Amino acid sequence: MAASRTGLVLAALGVLSVSVTSGSRAAAGAERGGEAEWAEPWDGAVFRPPSALGAVGVARGPGSPWSGREEAEDLPVLLWWSPGLFPHFPGDSELIECPRGACVASRDRRVWGDARTRALLFYGTDFRASEAPLPRLAHQSWALLHEESPLNNFLLSHDPGIRLFNLTSTFSRHSDYPLPLQWLPGVAYLRREAPALQERAEWRRRGYAPLLYLQSHCDVPADRDRYVLELMRYIPVDSYGRCLQNRELPATRLQDTTTATTEDPELLSFLSRYKFHLALENAICDDYMTEKLWRPMHLGAVPVYRGSPSVRDWMPNNHSIILIDDFESPQKLAEFIDFLDKNDEEYMKYLAYKQPGGITNQFLLDSLKHREWGVNDPLLPNYLNGFECFVCDHELARLDTEKAHAASPGDVPAPEPHIAQPSHMDCPVPTPGFGSVEEIPDNDSWKEMWLQDYWQNLDQAEALTTMIHNNETQQRKFWHYLHENFVRRNQNL
Ligand SMILES: *[C@@H]1O[C@H](CO)[C@@H](O)[C@H](O)[C@H]1NC(C)=O
Ligand SMILES: *[C@@H]1O[C@H](CO)[C@@H](O)[C@H](O)[C@H]1NC(C)=O
Ligand SMILES: *[C@@H]1O[C@H](CO)[C@@H](O)[C@H](O)[C@H]1NC(C)=O
Ligand SMILES: *[C@@H]1O[C@H](CO)[C@@H](O)[C@H](O)[C@H]1NC(C)=O
Repeated sequence: MAASRTGLVLAALGVLSVSVTSGSRAAAGAERGGEAEWAEPWDGAVFRPPSALGAVGVARGPGSPWSGREEAEDLPVLLWWSPGLFPHFPGDSELIECPRGACVASRDRRVWGDARTRALLFYGTDFRASEAPLPRLAHQSWALLHEESPLNNFLLSHDPGIRLFNLTSTFSRHSDYPLPLQWLPGVAYLRREAPALQERAEWRRRGYAPLLYLQSHCDVPADRDRYVLELMRYIPVDSYGRCLQNRELPATRLQDTTTATTEDPELLSFLSRYKFHLALENAICDDYMTEKLWRPMHLGAVPVYRGSPSVRDWMPNNHSIILIDDFESPQKLAEFIDFLDKNDEEYMKYLAYKQPGGITNQFLLDSLKHREWGVNDPLLPNYLNGFECFVCDHELARLDTEKAHAASPGDVPAPEPHIAQPSHMDCPVPTPGFGSVEEIPDNDSWKEMWLQDYWQNLDQAEALTTMIHNNETQQRKFWHYLHENFVRRNQNL
């Protein structure tokens, strides 16, 4: 597992590290799959304040109003702690301008102990308990960006793990800088016209199944293949990915996942022949929704979905997807899909949201309208820079309150601590995709891998919390502590 996890981390960071911006609210984002948009040429401006920050050069975006070093010297510093993720280019530090004021974003760890370093920013996939910067400094907020699946780091799915942080940006609507719609570019994406039913009927006659499965990441916490395998007993499923594969994509170019992306027009047009797409997320968490959900809707297929338990809240109307968990068994689900497959009028009701006025979910419309970041939108910041600015503004406000409190402690209270909540990363214990955990043998790879990983991460989160509480500095001590206190949890195993 270590190897596949490292692969995921590298994949994520490989894409993220080309995401650059000049200034914070200005240029734009290369989310995964998108094209990197390079920043304006660096103007080379550098200031060299004294002390720990002395070695840190600051690149400023062009047109920056900050001309002298006087202004920059007192700015709060936000330190990106995770190696490999620093959403600026080039250099190790950059002045960012945000609605409330300016901060210095840096990735130079030498500034860690500086009084001006007010926040440490962590990328969740990269966060390791054993590498946490200890002792924890009381004047610093810890900020977590983790838009990805919890499978990349279960530490954060546990209460003591998420409570390590003060500010969060996750897929959850409850996080401080929420990204639940990170995979939905906009309303127009949903409105795209569906292929004609006659065309799809023609494909069915040529021997294609009603239902598509396209998945190459097979062993995942949500254990989706176990469900799909069972479903296949009751209804034909064409499976093209590595998982449960029973057909080949029409062109070798498309079969190679290193050359064909999931946005390939030829692939999309091929996938759109299917009336139903199995859409199962790799892990189950509230508000964790990915392209697996939105892409079929874009293509005019009906997603047969398992993922975020609260997915209904985000749907264009209340009749646009089929929820696997509404059915008592794979057999019942298969019967229902078969019924819709043979009944055009009932099937078309699932695509009514594509008609004018068909998107009736005001919450969805408002959320898309009011989000501050964009998905491949050159006019809006990407969410990395958006979150960075959110943290900058939060720290500027906290500084103001601290100053006001210091000036008149009787009138102004000290700022309240702000602590992340479990709802910011709401991912319950993984359960089998089909059947009960007791029925599955102990040497099953899912049971060996994901259940253990989940509980071991709880131990690590608790150990780190204890270390912070005891104001420990030594990493070595931490590992010693972890090994001494390691409890192999057998519940659910
Ligand atoms: C779905 O929406 C329709 C129209 O807005 C409404 O009449 C109906 O009660 C809703 N059904 C459910 C289950 O919420
Ligand atoms: C940050 O969170 C920790 C708990 O993890 C808390 O003890 C601390 O007071 C918080 N700091 C701020 C600045 O809110
Ligand atoms: C699990 O154990 C059973 C019986 O002990 C054995 O037949 C089976 O091959 C094992 N499976 C794996 C994946 O090792
Ligand atoms: C924690 O450790 C730091 C650095 O060693 C020290 O400055 C600070 O006073 C300690 N805090 C407590 C509460 O012991």
